[in-house]
Amino acid sequence: MNIPKIKFQIHGDDRGSLVALEENKEIPFSIKRVYYIFETKEEVVRGHHAHKSLEQIFICVSGQCKIRLNNGKEMGEVLLDNPEEGIYVAPGMWREMYDFSEDAVLLVLASELYHEEDYIRNYDDFLAYINQK
Ligand code: TYD
Repeated sequence: MNIPKIKFQIHGDDRGSLVALEENKEIPFSIKRVYYIFETKEEVVRGHHAHKSLEQIFICVSGQCKIRLNNGKEMGEVLLDNPEEGIYVAPGMWREMYDFSEDAVLLVLASELYHEEDYIRNYDDFLAYINQK
């Protein structure tokens, strides 16, 4: 599976760089929640879940990490190592985040508040959910 990267516009000048993200413009949904993952220990794989309706944008604003996405039929992997770009993660995608560098900060913009009911945390349940759709 190809995972397209979204390139953000950089407002750069001789002081440095700035990226601005607005809901329903650069970000294709209304942003209800923001969180970031940092100080991830070596060898750790996070995620291991899918969402029923949550949409997200992942941006590695410092350092690097890899994201593996699986729609139940196909799998794809992408390296995020640049604060100028991000990926869109649709509902119904099993995701794993891994190979975090020591300085990695993974920023996530999300379309909904935290709702545990939206999570599918068991892989067999995920496959059953995908196949019944
Ligand atoms: P977890 O789902 O394990 O994170 P990951 O997707 O990276 O594997 O979340 C870790 C903890 O943080 C868990 O106790 C739930 C809590 N949490 C919130 O309270 N709000 C949030 O928005 C998120 C993403 C997690």
